[in-house]
Amino acid sequence: MSEESTLILSPSPGDMARAAGLLRRGEPVAFPTETVYGLGADARSGPAVARVYAAKGRPAFNPLIAHVPDVETARELVIWTPMADKLARAFWPGPLTLVLPLREGHGIASLVTAGLETLAVRVPAHPTAQALLRAFGGPLAAPSANPSGRISPTTAAHVLAGLDGDIAALIDDGACAVGLESTIVGLIDKTLRLLRPGGLAAEPIEAVIGRPLQQHATTDALVAPGQLLSHYAPRAAMRLNAEESRRGELLLGFGNVEGELNLSPGGDLAEAAANLFDHLHRLDQIGRPIAVARIPGHGLGAAINDRLKRAAAPRDT
Ligand code: TXA
Ligand code: MG
Repeated sequence: MSEESTLILSPSPGDMARAAGLLRRGEPVAFPTETVYGLGADARSGPAVARVYAAKGRPAFNPLIAHVPDVETARELVIWTPMADKLARAFWPGPLTLVLPLREGHGIASLVTAGLETLAVRVPAHPTAQALLRAFGGPLAAPSANPSGRISPTTAAHVLAGLDGDIAALIDDGACAVGLESTIVGLIDKTLRLLRPGGLAAEPIEAVIGRPLQQHATTDALVAPGQLLSHYAPRAAMRLNAEESRRGELLLGFGNVEGELNLSPGGDLAEAAANLFDHLHRLDQIGRPIAVARIPGHGLGAAINDRLKRAAAPRDT
């Protein structure tokens, strides 16, 4: 925490103009999207983006997603293809990020791509994210608004818990409906690859493209440098596929596996996704080891299990 406190803004037009003004001066501003809260900065300004990396304590080799208000703006930044168009028409605005080769004259700061020749772009559906992008009038680089490696934020309180005093402002607009980061699909060299499972399940994407999505290997550091194994970690130790809690553990339940908290008593994966990070934040505050019930692997369960696996992975700190 630093000397200055973080300004809390509302989604009103006046506050949006204030947020846009801060962004133009190179200040990072946290804002809601339908997936998680993002920490936004002018994607065309190296110094502005550097402040995001600094606030998060993020390794500089981890590239960021450029958020834009619409397909037209995305097409100014990347080399567009018929497949990109198909996916964008089906799922934008929404929890899908596309990785495409950068287009000449893109103007994106190299710190955003961490020197790669590709760019991750996304059109968020959240009305407040849309309003901010339009008030600002340019692409916003925005990772999740949490200290690097920690649990992603799905409420303004989560953002403040990690970054209060380290960022200029936060737009508070309640809880994020999806609750998991966007699904990332790479469209490079005519191959379509699922780079990160996320808030849009693979099945509807496969229905649109008419074939299975190729999964990338998690060890392939070059393709998805952000997919560090230990990520999304609570402070406490975690154990997965638990049927009951052992001595001293807090149980995060699902379906009929009860627990201190339950991701979805009715076994609904969309509800579980929306609750995942919030429940982890809550249990982590208690400061005891966390056991998590088994989550099915289909639909959004793939992304939930991906995050849980990373949260439970061995770490250095
Ligand atoms: O839902 C989301 O995607 C949220 C909200 C704020 O939009 N953002 C988010 O950003 O999750 P972040 O920075 O936490 O995750 C970005 C991911 C990282 O895993 C990074 O490695 C990957 O995107 N990425 C970014 N640019 C890439 C590129 N050119 N090639 C491959 N992966 C890339
Ligand atoms: Mg993140």
